[in-house]
Amino acid sequence: MSYYDQDTIEEVRRANDIVDVIKEYVPLKKSGSNYFGLCPFHGEKTPSFSVSPSRQMYHCFGCGASGTVYQFMENYLHMSFPEAVEALASRAGITLKKQELTGEQKRKNDRKKTLLAVQKDAAVYFYSLLHSPHGEKCLEYFKKRGLSDETMTKFGLGYSDMYSNDLYQYLKKKGYSDDILRDSGLVTFDERYGVRDKFFNRAMFPVMDQYSKVIAFGGRVMGDGEPKYLNSPETDIFHKSYTLYGLHLARRTRRDYFILCEGYMDVIALHQAGFDCAVASLGTSLTPGQTDIIARITKNVYLSYDSDGAGVKAILRAIPMFRAKGITPRIIHMDPYKDPDEFIKALGADEYQKRIDEAENFFIFEIRQLQKNYDMSDPAARTQFETETAKKLLEFKIELERDNYTDTVCREFSIPVDAMKSLIRRLAVEEMNRPVRINTRPDETVHRPDDVKKKDDPDEMRLLSWIADRPDLFGTVSEYLKPEDFDDGILQNIATQLYDQIEHNGIVSPAVIIDSFDEVDDQNRASWIFHENVRSLQETPKEEKGKAFVITLTKVVKKSYDKRISTLDATDMDRFSLIKEEKESLDKIARLRIADA
Ligand code: UTP
Ligand code: MN
Repeated sequence: MSYYDQDTIEEVRRANDIVDVIKEYVPLKKSGSNYFGLCPFHGEKTPSFSVSPSRQMYHCFGCGASGTVYQFMENYLHMSFPEAVEALASRAGITLKKQELTGEQKRKNDRKKTLLAVQKDAAVYFYSLLHSPHGEKCLEYFKKRGLSDETMTKFGLGYSDMYSNDLYQYLKKKGYSDDILRDSGLVTFDERYGVRDKFFNRAMFPVMDQYSKVIAFGGRVMGDGEPKYLNSPETDIFHKSYTLYGLHLARRTRRDYFILCEGYMDVIALHQAGFDCAVASLGTSLTPGQTDIIARITKNVYLSYDSDGAGVKAILRAIPMFRAKGITPRIIHMDPYKDPDEFIKALGADEYQKRIDEAENFFIFEIRQLQKNYDMSDPAARTQFETETAKKLLEFKIELERDNYTDTVCREFSIPVDAMKSLIRRLAVEEMNRPVRINTRPDETVHRPDDVKKKDDPDEMRLLSWIADRPDLFGTVSEYLKPEDFDDGILQNIATQLYDQIEHNGIVSPAVIIDSFDEVDDQNRASWIFHENVRSLQETPKEEKGKAFVITLTKVVKKSYDKRISTLDATDMDRFSLIKEEKESLDKIARLRIADA
């Protein structure tokens, strides 16, 4: 749930014209009814970033970034949604009321606050142990690993003692209940062994959320031993798949890229060497939640994974995950060293910076790995490798991009470029002639984010875009379809709001609808409807528009009837009349004459 209610969000938005707000950060020039400028979300030399005063939204035709004034604050200034509301309210001189929480919400909030307090107290305890006589060996261990006092303090490193439940005793004295301590993940209650601390005799790494609050711990054995690292379990405040170690520092970096590595020590060593943009996913392989967090902050990502086989596998897995977020990752080579920590210890920060500058494009990396499976001295194997490479090149749908990659790959792997290009053309023709190809409509050729692509019915989405773009068609649509006829979930929700806006105000405010969703994913899906779809409708040739509208309306109406009919028995009279009604409606729609305005 958003912390602020819809009325407040709406009031604050009305007081902050999107053009005025963005102008404070990005120079904009008026052209027609919109404003244009250089996109702040990707590097470019010609302006493709547009801000629409009538829709109160921004959109970049280059990188696809889009959203309302709130998303601008979130994406450009890396604020959370409540932070954006607060910042814009204060900009407009609005005082925000404290929100009334329900009893249940209050109880949950209080519990989370207590869980955070436990972690913080534990961190203080581990920290002071490290700097007490008990922590001597551990302090020595950290020093041996090259960490300065400043670094240890910055990361809040600590030590968990030899005793089996000293932390438990300490926290009990602070007044926490057994119940809360069990949920904190720091203590286990066992019938045989009694109460035991999860961590003992380990070097402790507190894990912080992006606001620098301790939410969990990792503990390393000092020296050899298994398991090398022990991590807190998932709790109500620690969700591994949405956590990145080092994010609280990296989100404030002045560099325009992130370095993603594998472990605690790598992040710490990188920060100590001045690379304050390093983060790691801990103890789990990379998740979409984590790539999402990164993509909201930067589109430039360097992967600095271990140089062993597992590291290569992890990189090959990470690449498509970043590609799906519009990121072109680069791979840092650390040979002959195992990880960034060891590399920096051996060669220093300047050499690592060189490796960043020389980092390999993800595609070249993939092809290099592919090549390892083939004996290049064998002509047959070599041909196979080249064919596989051509197939991968075909995945670039934009011709210019594909050509650029083809040139580079051919140079890199000594493949004759003309032969490669004709191979690609041949494969493309083969693919086109494959019988099962779905017929893509012209307005589906624009790139859609993956999560949008999967979920929503394209015809229903297009119809909603039609209504948003041409409220004059609303009467026609609403004659045949009610909001309930749209797919359950987000489309029905958008339809309900759209219908409501037009019926009550006569105009459409996409920004209001987009901001009514709490989840980023839903906001993106709604944004897609009001942006990409509306744009492609507007680009549909004038003389085609009426026809296109009728086709879309027909499909959605037919689908809604068929759905209702399928729930009824073959012998049901209602079914019969519904079938008759469907036929009449579809006939009537087929006879519609729509102005191509
Ligand atoms: P590594 O073993 O590569 O960690 O595991 P590292 O940081 O290089 O370890 P050092 O340098 O020997 O101290 C990478 C990450 O995987 C997780 C930890 O988050 C670690 O940082 N891991 C590893 C575990 O959770 N448990 C383990 O037993 C090992
Ligand atoms: Mn290491």
